[in-house]
Amino acid sequence: MKNFTFQNPTKLVFGKGQIAKLSNLIPADASLMITYGFGSVKKNGVYDQVVDALKDRKYIEFWGIEANPHVETLRKAIDLGKENNIDFVLAVGGGSVLDGTKLIAAGIANDKDAWDIVLSGYAKEQINYASVMTVPATGSEMNSGAVITRAETKEKYSFGGIKYPYFSILDPEVTYSLSEHQVACGLADAYTHVLEQYLTTPNQSRIMDRWAEGILLSIIEIAPKIKANPHDYNLMADYMLAATLALNDFIRMGVTEDWSTHMIGHELTALHGITHGHSLAIVMPGTMRVMKEQKWDKLLQYGERVFNIVEGSDSDKIDKAIEMTELFYRSLGLTTRLSEENIGEETIQTIANRFNERGFALGENKNVTGDVTKRILESSR
Ligand code: NZQ
Ligand code: ZN
Repeated sequence: MKNFTFQNPTKLVFGKGQIAKLSNLIPADASLMITYGFGSVKKNGVYDQVVDALKDRKYIEFWGIEANPHVETLRKAIDLGKENNIDFVLAVGGGSVLDGTKLIAAGIANDKDAWDIVLSGYAKEQINYASVMTVPATGSEMNSGAVITRAETKEKYSFGGIKYPYFSILDPEVTYSLSEHQVACGLADAYTHVLEQYLTTPNQSRIMDRWAEGILLSIIEIAPKIKANPHDYNLMADYMLAATLALNDFIRMGVTEDWSTHMIGHELTALHGITHGHSLAIVMPGTMRVMKEQKWDKLLQYGERVFNIVEGSDSDKIDKAIEMTELFYRSLGLTTRLSEENIGEETIQTIANRFNERGFALGENKNVTGDVTKRILESSR
């Protein structure tokens, strides 16, 4: 096991009716701005719950943070926050509203341009922020990362920040208004987060391995049940908690990670608007196929412990595990091939060129270059 420091300070407030606690959770002297997307919260009652919970508080609102939040929009929120001396931002929405809010919190705290903060990779200063999370998927509610899009250049980059959400309210009932496709993307995102912290080499930590496998098995178990009954509170509660635990630092203590699938997926989103979780369903099986030799032992362990694959040669078992992974994504209702989304050679070459120009060398062994990325995408055609 590698050395590590672990500190996740986010207060999770979980369950039905918990939005009513907002006023007590936000510091009494906070100068507050609330950030939103485009109005799903008005249709599903979340907005009314927030307004009601904060009826005795003063605050300003910023609307219009889009999916895959644009830095161009976030700059406006930063300006508004500065004009009003805001020192606490509450995100009410999905991962995009919260990620955007993480950049707003950084932009208010210093005078750098917002895109420069993203490109620097790490925000050393941020004001406090918190969330009412309405999409279980990203884990953003309990981590310090964010992914931001620059629309004018079709680029999408992630950055980390010094602060974690001050608190996050997770009420499974807010998920009832998600479409089947949104749930599919959320489940695929959470599943892939676990894989990217797990699928490297075995024998680094039994605890991390078993914990990761437990989340994978839980997601596989609940996915068809949710499809059949998307308003089952306990199922949605498990889905919500799985998404949080998949990316809140708990399963990456002391182990290597490989985020190449995410980095490649971000390009498919930036260039073609493919929903984040869906992009991963297309890329992950390709990553597994191309990196089979390097991930051999862990793929065997994954196949045996998650899919109960015990017969055949080791190579056959691994191929079966990869096939089962692709079938799992498809069972959610997602396509898993570029051709199904009419994405071809031109995009593959663009992404490979971008990664080569940036000098990317991703993965646990830092060997997923632009050229290897090209092979991964070719294998996902
Ligand atoms: O804008 P409104 O009207 O609110 O509608 C939104 C929007 O269309 C809608 N929505 C939100 N809650 C809803 C709802 N519709 C019905 N019922 C509800 N309860 O959903 C759309 C917004 O979805 P979005 O926030 O984009 O989804 P998600 O939570 O999957 O976030 C995706 C973003 O997070 C990034 C992704 O790259 C992408 O930009 N990620 C962030 C990570 C992190 N911070 O750690 C890690 C992830 O790997 C991911 O990269
Ligand atoms: Zn993700």
